[in-house]
Amino acid sequence: MTTRTAEQTLADASAWWDTSIIDIHPGKIAIRGYPIEQLIGRVRFPEMIWLMLRGELPSPEQAELLEAALVPGVDHGPHAPSIAISRMAVTCGLPVNGAMASAINVLDDIHGGAGQQCMERYHEIDVLAGAEGDLVESATTVLERHRAAGEKIMPGFGHRFHPVDPRTAPLFELLARAEARGTIGGRFARIGRAVEVALQKPKGRLIPMNIDGITAVIFCELGFEPELGRGLFILSRSVGILAHAWEQKQRGRRIMGPMPREIPFKYSGPARRDLPAEFAARGTRTRT
Ligand SMILES: CC(C)(COP(=O)(O)OP(=O)(O)OC[C@H]1O[C@@H](n2cnc3c(N)ncnc32)[C@H](O)[C@@H]1OP(=O)(O)O)[C@@H](O)C(=O)NCCC(=O)NCCS
Repeated sequence: MTTRTAEQTLADASAWWDTSIIDIHPGKIAIRGYPIEQLIGRVRFPEMIWLMLRGELPSPEQAELLEAALVPGVDHGPHAPSIAISRMAVTCGLPVNGAMASAINVLDDIHGGAGQQCMERYHEIDVLAGAEGDLVESATTVLERHRAAGEKIMPGFGHRFHPVDPRTAPLFELLARAEARGTIGGRFARIGRAVEVALQKPKGRLIPMNIDGITAVIFCELGFEPELGRGLFILSRSVGILAHAWEQKQRGRRIMGPMPREIPFKYSGPARRDLPAEFAARGTRTRT
């Protein structure tokens, strides 16, 4: 075994959590090199998110688009599992942090987290189409590829509740404005539209882009990695999760399940029956 000097051990320990994000010394904090006292009051929260995730400050136009994408996902009411879980957790006595952690846990592939997979599919279409390829054709091929692999649902499209998601059109308008200003290239907006067309063909009806699909377009246009897209959605939904946890806390009710007790759930197991004879013969056990 090689002997290590105290200096080497100290250097290794310092490098253990090597980070390029923040530098802290007594009385001094700098994020990505910028002193915190310069950031406070000058940098808006979406700009701060960008700085933290990307290492540099965004242009005002990029920040505006990111901010717009973070607004509509904050809440989708107590029917959304993430919001319901937050409220139920509070009625079970969990503090705000426990309620938020419980709710965030369900923001995975199917609920809330579909944006990440959607971004991955958009990138797949982008690569397949290359510079010259037709986007609808490439989208059709990618959808077929996934269908053949047993994944018949295209994440980011369709909705249980909304025939047309009211959050999509205003964000498309902002994308068009950002493209006209040269903030984004508009390629992923066109890919999103192409997916809508490709999905409509076999079904003969529109399966419209939902909030995950449109925010996936924005995050792709802004150059975020797919996994960060999911994280950004979670940041946004966390606001609603917190608000609902807080509101429920003020109500002070205890142990609320997903439905009022008076509404029965459907039972689909065996009909009432007697225990088999060998169990019935045991008599009633008494605790001593
Ligand atoms: C949200 C969702 C669960 C609604 O599904 P649903 O209730 O079955 O939707 P509908 O009743 O409107 O659609 C029925 C048909 O369209 C198909 N369909 C719906 N969304 C689809 C999608 N995104 N991709 C491909 N096909 C889809 C269904 O498979 C079904 O086909 P079938 O009749 O051959 O069985 C579904 O669209 C979905 O899983 N979307 C992707 C996940 C997502 O983006 N989640 C975030 C929602 S904000």
